[in-house]
Amino acid sequence: MNGPLVLGIETSCDETGVGLVRGRTLLFDAIASSVEEHARFGGVVPEVASRAHLEAMVPTIERACREAGVRLADVDAVSVTAGPGLAGALLVGVASAKALALALGVPLYGVNHLAAHVAVDVVEHGPLPEPTLGLLVSGGHSNLLLVPDVTDDIRSLGATVDDAAGEAFDKVARVLGLPFPGGPHIDRVAREGDQVAIDFPRGLTSGRDLQRHRFDYSFSGLKTAVARWVQAREATGQPVPVADVAASFQEAVVDVLTRKAVLACAEHGVDDLLIGGGVAANSRLRALAQERCDAAGIRLRVPRPGLCTDNGAMVAALGAQMVMKGRPESRLDLPADSSQPVEQVRA
Ligand code: KG4
Ligand code: ZN
Repeated sequence: MNGPLVLGIETSCDETGVGLVRGRTLLFDAIASSVEEHARFGGVVPEVASRAHLEAMVPTIERACREAGVRLADVDAVSVTAGPGLAGALLVGVASAKALALALGVPLYGVNHLAAHVAVDVVEHGPLPEPTLGLLVSGGHSNLLLVPDVTDDIRSLGATVDDAAGEAFDKVARVLGLPFPGGPHIDRVAREGDQVAIDFPRGLTSGRDLQRHRFDYSFSGLKTAVARWVQAREATGQPVPVADVAASFQEAVVDVLTRKAVLACAEHGVDDLLIGGGVAANSRLRALAQERCDAAGIRLRVPRPGLCTDNGAMVAALGAQMVMKGRPESRLDLPADSSQPVEQVRA
């Protein structure tokens, strides 16, 4: 095995991730999640997340090294998510990464979280075609990205204008009385339901909306439509067909996500689509994306679910690619930037 040994730290939301990657080989990906501490609030509480990162950081770094069979002294570079994400949560990772880089005397790479979601697929499916089209869908983001070079050049084609796709899953799950985070529960329940039972709206897909927001998404209207439908049903005293609502809602989301991703590939002449982020774990999204990519002659790449949700391996993978491409390291006064634009791949 060769290539630089990079330790990557991710703390943008509620997972403390520490990954070790050598070149394009994943050695170990250690995760400590605070999701259970947020469950009773129905969403991530930033202060709770920051505190959990602080407590988990050192044990998670130690576990990653132990499981990977490497010593910290062997690490060639440290990379860290500099943004976007929750400010306090990011700060814990950035401060830890600076301390490590300084103590070890190795370069520090502050990287963009969204770029890392794209870059992680190299550990599973090899080098990224240039360009690749990235569809990133999670609790915090829904973006269509044109990626000529994941270490240097990412262009935003579109993004959600309101709720992120995962956020819509979580809110609809709540309406249906399913636990947080709701995505996996909707995915499971929807398997028993009929996806054409209810015709929910597909935001920004027709007429002027499609012209003005060609590659943007909107899920807020859909979420409201589901809530109204459920309320109307309850008002009649009839039981809510949870599986049918879940399946019909899920179909509306994945239909729009895949339709616009395939359209973007066609209009930008890109043959490779990569889907990442927590919602990429959705079984119906994966199936429909495969079907539509096959029909359009597009190659589809989706990392395994554990690499789609937030993790340290993705940050290490991007850091290793930065080292191998000779990109400049970050300064030790690197800030955490909660609203770092996706075009800014390195901080
Ligand atoms: O990438 P991620 O772990 O964290 C960020 O938000 O950055 O994504 C979490 C989101 C949550 O909204 C969760 O409900 C959603 O991903 N999710 C899913 C599935 N698994 C996780 N959504 C739909 N279907 C799934 N199977
Ligand atoms: Zn993420």
